Amino acid sequence: MVHGVAPKPATASRSGALSGTIRVPGDKSISHRAFMFGGLAAGTTRITGLLEGEDVINTGKAMRAMGAQIRKDADTWIIEGTGNGCLLAPEAPLDFGNAGTGCRLTMGLVGTYDFKTVFTGDPSLSSRPMNRVLDPLKLMGTQVEASEGGRLPVTLHGPRMAAPIEYTVPMASAQVKSAVLLAGLNAPGVTTVTEKVMTRDHTEKMLKGFGAEIEVETDSDGTRRIRLEGQGKLTGQAIDVPGDPSSAAFAIVAALIVPGSNVTIENVLMNPTRCGLITTLLEMGGSITFLDRRSAGGEDVADLRVRHSELTGVTVPPERAASMIDEYPVLAVAASFASGITVMEGVEELRVKESDRLAATAAGLKLNGVLCEEGEATLKVTGQPGGKGLGNPSRGEVATHLDHRIAMSFLVMGLASEHPVTIDDSRMIATSFPEFVNLMTGLGGAIEMAADPLRS
Ligand code: S3P
Repeated sequence: MVHGVAPKPATASRSGALSGTIRVPGDKSISHRAFMFGGLAAGTTRITGLLEGEDVINTGKAMRAMGAQIRKDADTWIIEGTGNGCLLAPEAPLDFGNAGTGCRLTMGLVGTYDFKTVFTGDPSLSSRPMNRVLDPLKLMGTQVEASEGGRLPVTLHGPRMAAPIEYTVPMASAQVKSAVLLAGLNAPGVTTVTEKVMTRDHTEKMLKGFGAEIEVETDSDGTRRIRLEGQGKLTGQAIDVPGDPSSAAFAIVAALIVPGSNVTIENVLMNPTRCGLITTLLEMGGSITFLDRRSAGGEDVADLRVRHSELTGVTVPPERAASMIDEYPVLAVAASFASGITVMEGVEELRVKESDRLAATAAGLKLNGVLCEEGEATLKVTGQPGGKGLGNPSRGEVATHLDHRIAMSFLVMGLASEHPVTIDDSRMIATSFPEFVNLMTGLGGAIEMAADPLRS
């Protein structure tokens, strides 16, 4: 997002049936990692289907600042990497904008190098906790200077020789798991990361694809132990990034709640660590059909056909949270149109996302007439089938707090509510899903951007 640009409100209004076939942009988690691992590996990496949202572009800029050569030829991104262990000291602070994934994973990637790296971000990223990554880096020998409470700006300076560690990730977080593994790439010997709850496994899978010596052992209780041999050789790869299920989520919920809708979303990543929302929506009675399930580049993908459905409230168990952590705001929107009550349990991690998503979701729902109860780590939503009475006739604005997923979730809500739903700012949508408004209006959704008063 360009600093200093005025907020851009937007309004979504009740729409006729949504119909058509779309493709959502490439998966954000895989896109970040493709730039990072391609930038680190020796030789050439070619990436197609990359998400060209602001978050991922900032990761590309950071890799370039550390020595990777990155260019684009037609639809393919071509990267000449530095070779593992050969990143260069960036001359200026690395600005990650809004992106927690780009920032935290890069802290791991370069934090064990014997030079100084400075990390900055926008006000949202600067309010998010970084100690979860800084603590294990300190154990590996990195010197850390952080702002109050372990916030950005952060300066890291790795030791002459990093120490490999055995680390148990204290919270369910793929970012922390990944940061420690990436730090281990530059440490001699074996770095071991244990996670009690399985989180998205893109780092493990992709590092293996790039040639890292990495093994995963899973206990009978689901605990995973990941062992990575440091200082190995990584070699450039060809990567075709599948569609992002976290972006597809908005079109899926829109099609389920807008009467008469029938929408197909092609080429969506179906990695089981990312499918919790679909499991939940199926339990709620959603009509979602998997067409042409196939394997592409080591990942399962499918085309999804979604039709309007009468949904029923369910209880979403805490053990499902990691597989749908970014999808709770839009699930809360689906729940607002279901009969009965939906309870979301064990969602404390929502409090440290781009915004406090639990509070932001509850506030937005209440503003738009939805009965809901926010607990410390729970959200309870009472639905209003048909969206009767939902929305805000006086166009009160949902506060999005620089959070792209809050912005998109509430625009989806407005497509099926009796009254319009207005958000205070749509700029952040460009961080993860720049095509969102065009794709949704192309399906028949009524979304209007506020006119810019400075434009004639
Ligand atoms: C991500 C991990 C998740 C998720 C984020 C992407 C990743 O964060 O919310 O959008 O690519 O590793 P946490 O690890 O903080 O749960």
